[in-house]
Amino acid sequence: MSVPATPGDMPRDSLRVGIVGCGAISRNHLEAFAAAEGAAVTVVCDIDPDRARVTAEKYGVAHAVSSVEDLLATGVDIISVCTPHPTHEEVVLAAAAAGVHVLCEKPIAVDLDSARRMTAACDAADVRLGVLFQRRFWPDARQMKADLVPGRLGEPILGQCTVLLHRDPGYYSATPWRGTWASDGGGVLMTQAIHYIDLLIWMLGDPVEVSGKIATFTHDIEVEDTAVATVTFASGALATINATTAADTALGARVQVTASSGATRAILEFPEGTDGRAVLRAEGGTVSTTPEYPSDLVANADLGTINGALIPHHTAQVADFVDAVREGHEPEVTGHDATRALAVLLGIYESSRTGAPVALGQEVSA
Ligand SMILES: NC(=O)c1ccc[n+]([C@@H]2O[C@H](COP(=O)([O-])OP(=O)(O)OC[C@H]3O[C@@H](n4cnc5c(N)ncnc54)[C@H](O)[C@@H]3O)[C@@H](O)[C@H]2O)c1
Repeated sequence: MSVPATPGDMPRDSLRVGIVGCGAISRNHLEAFAAAEGAAVTVVCDIDPDRARVTAEKYGVAHAVSSVEDLLATGVDIISVCTPHPTHEEVVLAAAAAGVHVLCEKPIAVDLDSARRMTAACDAADVRLGVLFQRRFWPDARQMKADLVPGRLGEPILGQCTVLLHRDPGYYSATPWRGTWASDGGGVLMTQAIHYIDLLIWMLGDPVEVSGKIATFTHDIEVEDTAVATVTFASGALATINATTAADTALGARVQVTASSGATRAILEFPEGTDGRAVLRAEGGTVSTTPEYPSDLVANADLGTINGALIPHHTAQVADFVDAVREGHEPEVTGHDATRALAVLLGIYESSRTGAPVALGQEVSA
């Protein structure tokens, strides 16, 4: 770790960063900002003061505080939000009101009104709002998008997203906020599949209608552990989503797109957390594949291992965000992008409740 021990160790023009929430994913943010050029974590915050203190000591951060107000009083340029889902809004609004740029963990929020207030506040304050969808930084995902989007293979017409993950009961009982509608906002769609829904939207464009069903099969939780859905895009393209945390053996997440030329590309993230790899290229009657499931790997990684494997991707997104703040451009993943992914999964919840397709509102258009 190379987080400076005190602000005095920082280069004078370094951006000062505060981390809010010192739980599981905060390590990824601390290490990612430590690796970023031109930024350094100067303060950490948790409503549990011991957590904040222990984190500050571990990473050599100068200040540990227990409220966002106190964090802002130390003077920061960027806040990274690593708190439970329904608390994202209050932290983002406080940052915007203080003129501080903000990088927020996914999901941006658990309802669309909240997401709208967050993007509007950041726009009004002219601060950057980025949301973590670090899987967009997989080199093979970027290559797949580059192949598809400029039209070399024609327009994307069909997407498939399959998310077969394993979570044991301890995952849902480890923190009080997981597994409930009030504090988690949803299950496998809200917490895990949202990353791959974002990849689908990134490659296929504006989603305009969703239909879906959710179910809770094996976990003792309020929210869904399993979901299926179809998505229609403004271009007319269609996609399916299958997602579960009820797999006894995790098979990772696979995103596949077929273009109007007839060519197909697929990437697979397996084991969970590692780089999504191109596993299939089919074009002109020729198929090239790489093995999807090496037989000597343990499929069900624990959460610490999964989060640890994500650090390089968090590092790439944090570097992009720091550059966006420095250079005054939009980050790779904006609050608006994150709102589109949220709109899709909330539409699936509504469709499952009503049994009818759900037309997505204005926030989905780029
Ligand atoms: N990008 C990814 O791949 C990824 C992976 C894991 C988690 N996450 C996201 O990161 C966020 C946090 O998840 P986690 O697993 O680290 O949760 P966690 O429960 O381990 O940690 C949350 C921390 O936030 C603190 N907290 C709660 N409310 C607060 C407030 N108002 N101010 C300051 N601190 C507060 C809690 O005390 C706790 O220490 C969630 O949005 C989650 O979905 C993203």
